[in-house]
Amino acid sequence: MNTQILPRSPATRPPGPTGLGFDRLRAMSRDYLGTLGALHARHGDIVRQRFVHLVDYSFLHPEHVREVLVASHDKLIRWERGTAVFASAHGQSVLVAEGAAWKRQRQMLQPAFSPRRVESFVPRMVQASQASLAGWDGLSEIDFEAAMTQTTMAVIMQTLFSQADALQGRAIAEAVHDLSVEGMKEFYWPVSAPLWAPWKARKRRALALLDRFIERQIRERLACSEPRRDLLGLMLEARDAEDQGLSARGLRDECMTTFLAGHETTAAALTWWGWCMAAHPEEQARIADEVRSVLADRVPTAADLPLMPRLARSFKEALRLFPPAAGLLSRRTTQPLCVGGYELPAGSMVRLTPALTHRDPRWFQEPEAFRPERFDTSSGHPEIPRGAWLPFGAGPRVCLGSHFALTEMGVVAALILQRYELQRLPERPAPNPRLDVTLRPDLPLHLGLRRC
Ligand code: HEM
Repeated sequence: MNTQILPRSPATRPPGPTGLGFDRLRAMSRDYLGTLGALHARHGDIVRQRFVHLVDYSFLHPEHVREVLVASHDKLIRWERGTAVFASAHGQSVLVAEGAAWKRQRQMLQPAFSPRRVESFVPRMVQASQASLAGWDGLSEIDFEAAMTQTTMAVIMQTLFSQADALQGRAIAEAVHDLSVEGMKEFYWPVSAPLWAPWKARKRRALALLDRFIERQIRERLACSEPRRDLLGLMLEARDAEDQGLSARGLRDECMTTFLAGHETTAAALTWWGWCMAAHPEEQARIADEVRSVLADRVPTAADLPLMPRLARSFKEALRLFPPAAGLLSRRTTQPLCVGGYELPAGSMVRLTPALTHRDPRWFQEPEAFRPERFDTSSGHPEIPRGAWLPFGAGPRVCLGSHFALTEMGVVAALILQRYELQRLPERPAPNPRLDVTLRPDLPLHLGLRRC
């Protein structure tokens, strides 16, 4: 790969493949990361390509990533086709909105996700995770991905709605899965067929089930006189600069986004973390020692989490190797923009791919290896440049729930390591990452459980 960033005149065009891109689009729909990785290996840090009428720029270098997400964020919007696919479930939530509407929603929601607020959710996270892990008793092997989906769903139900109804969890998990699979297919079509189209029955059913679930939670809460200190309670209290609250529709949309974004990505992150632990038993043993020396038999509190830096580094490394949002939502320039010395015309697509930047040997020595100590600044490992590690994105549209996610991961992982050693099953092949909106193992990930 070309490792130099060469200053070029803004007039010249970045390298890239020729043609209208039908074959590349097909290849990307089959293997997004492999196809894009091969283009960068061939053409360098910046790849320009055409997809019929769209000109598309893909950036790898951390400096370019920050030029896009931080320095130029106000000259970009999320690619409308991508947000249109999301909007069918998320409505006009903070994930989808742009401009002044986005700013208002983000400011209204931000306090509910502040570190102090998230700390107050730790007892709820513990309660939900413990209930979910209770089902592991007596098992010697587990479908770890399914177990993490169930656990993170229990956590978000408890923190968002104060709900502990595991029964409806399975139907909802299926609906979420169906929505992801259908959404991923739609990204590669120029327009979406209306929801009533006969071949959309799966998506229609999934959306109807999720809508009914969210609307029932809100209806029941509005009918209840006793205030609750969960995320829905905080959303009901949220006010904008004009002292206005969220509309009924706005409340539904934000709940849907918090519910979906709040458990799918964290489930993927914990799944890959579990795999990293099972595949690196010595590192797992060191982390488990740290957990037990801090907690002994107690459940974790918010104050315990900063006392377990080895555990925190294992999350960073798992998120580096397997970032759940492997490709950020594509952006479109709303005005001309200069990145890496090239001028991008208004209307261009901009693509950033954490999964590729995270495995670049320029920033991460032996990038394929699981080395949590690379995040220990005192270990002699070279400093990681800003923009090279971005599982939560960067800039003003950075993940709203990053602190929530890392706290939840700390709680769930500590509870697991207090009780179990995760083991690789010799008869099962190592999982390969597959991009399905989030990055997931290509086959169900089964792990062995040894009670400690
Ligand atoms: C490990 C878990 C998670 C990962 C890896 C993750 C990753 C991301 C990324 C990369 C973005 C930015 C996408 C872009 O710039 O295109 C994002 C946005 C967002 N995330 Fe997360 N996320 C996680 C967990 C959560 C949780 C737990 C919540 C809420 C409870 C959440 C809520 C959101 C919201 C609302 C946005 C949109 C923010 C905006 O556009 O202003 N995420 N997430």
